[in-house]
Amino acid sequence: MAGTELFGPEERKEVNDVLETGILFRYGFDQERMGHWKAREFEAEIAGFTGAKHCLACSSGSAAVSIMLAAAGVGAGDEVIVPPFTFMATIEAVLWAGAIPVFAEIDDTLNLSPEGIEAVITENTKAVCLVHMCGSMARMDDIVAICDRHHITLLEDTAQSLGAFYKGRHLGLFGKAGTFSFDFFKIITAGEGGAVITNDKDVAEKMPWISDHGHDHIGDNRGAERHPILGFNFRIGELNAAVGLAQARKLPRILKAQKENKKRIKSAVARFAPITFRHLPDPDGDAATFLNFFLPDHRTAVKVVDEFSSAGVFGLQYWYNNNYHYIKNWDHLIDFSVAAKLPVQVIDPDRSYRDVQLPKSDDLLSRLISLIIKVSWTEDELTEHINKVTGALDRVLG
Ligand SMILES: Cc1ncc(COP(=O)(O)O)c(C=O)c1O
Repeated sequence: MAGTELFGPEERKEVNDVLETGILFRYGFDQERMGHWKAREFEAEIAGFTGAKHCLACSSGSAAVSIMLAAAGVGAGDEVIVPPFTFMATIEAVLWAGAIPVFAEIDDTLNLSPEGIEAVITENTKAVCLVHMCGSMARMDDIVAICDRHHITLLEDTAQSLGAFYKGRHLGLFGKAGTFSFDFFKIITAGEGGAVITNDKDVAEKMPWISDHGHDHIGDNRGAERHPILGFNFRIGELNAAVGLAQARKLPRILKAQKENKKRIKSAVARFAPITFRHLPDPDGDAATFLNFFLPDHRTAVKVVDEFSSAGVFGLQYWYNNNYHYIKNWDHLIDFSVAAKLPVQVIDPDRSYRDVQLPKSDDLLSRLISLIIKVSWTEDELTEHINKVTGALDRVLG
């Protein structure tokens, strides 16, 4: 939630620009908007920061995944390999595309493992949707090689990893496309918002059509536009884009503070021998939004969680018991509780998520603790945080 810690005059200035013109819509009204194109500027900022050739801002990170899937040609009956540790939105987007989520194991990167992916590939596998959780990357070299070898489309849900690079390339640019979320809880926020980045010309051409009812955006007469394909409304509004624009400009500062603060906490935690850290295939590329570490077993992890809670440790996440991020607690998916039948239920009536067996992921998640890294800690607050963390660890681990 780094961005929310830094709201200031910059966000207000961008929002006021929009309010002064009264043009809250991202397209058209060229005269009335007095040169303010916040969505376009936000897209340019994200493209510049990530090094992507193309960026489309949209209404949410969930919408971004839907746009990415559609633009990459994923549709009814296609199998898409997904992780069991993500936010539910990734899975929902695959289902709304009419495609079939196929769960695979994660590894100690907290992301899909190459072995896990390879184990569930079938002749119906169309895509892998990697999700780079908690600010850091999967084992990219191996995963890219597997996708190439099997002619599978690689997609990246990078909602949680803006600011993360692998060997100098921003996450989200290893396959056909990548997505971001700018909801209230992300490294930068637009209130609500998302984006798709890509270096692929075909995806880049389709994504604005998909996000705006198929309008081709050629010419200045909206009523006269043509519609090369069907789309929907996934547009971002100018007010959200204005906030996102101001926040995006703060990214270098946010990343610097996160990395410094994380380093301090990590080195204090490292003296507890039973603790191991999440594997970072490229430590320099970590966005450092969280410190993630494993306890030796589930029982010890629960004790540490309890001790952290009693001590009031800031930003504690125990994903294993969390309703949003781990398949074990997605009753609505497991029971297929839907408002209306999904294509997957028509295409494959025997498909069920009741018996998904992912022992490696379950073991890792049961032992994983994550701590959010704040950017606005003062020196005293950071010291106090570290003391709380190490004090609690001392009481459990001795
Ligand atoms: C991995 C992942 N994908 C997608 C989303 C959806 O983003 P939004 O909340 O902007 O729709 C989130 C949000 O938490 C997320 O963590």
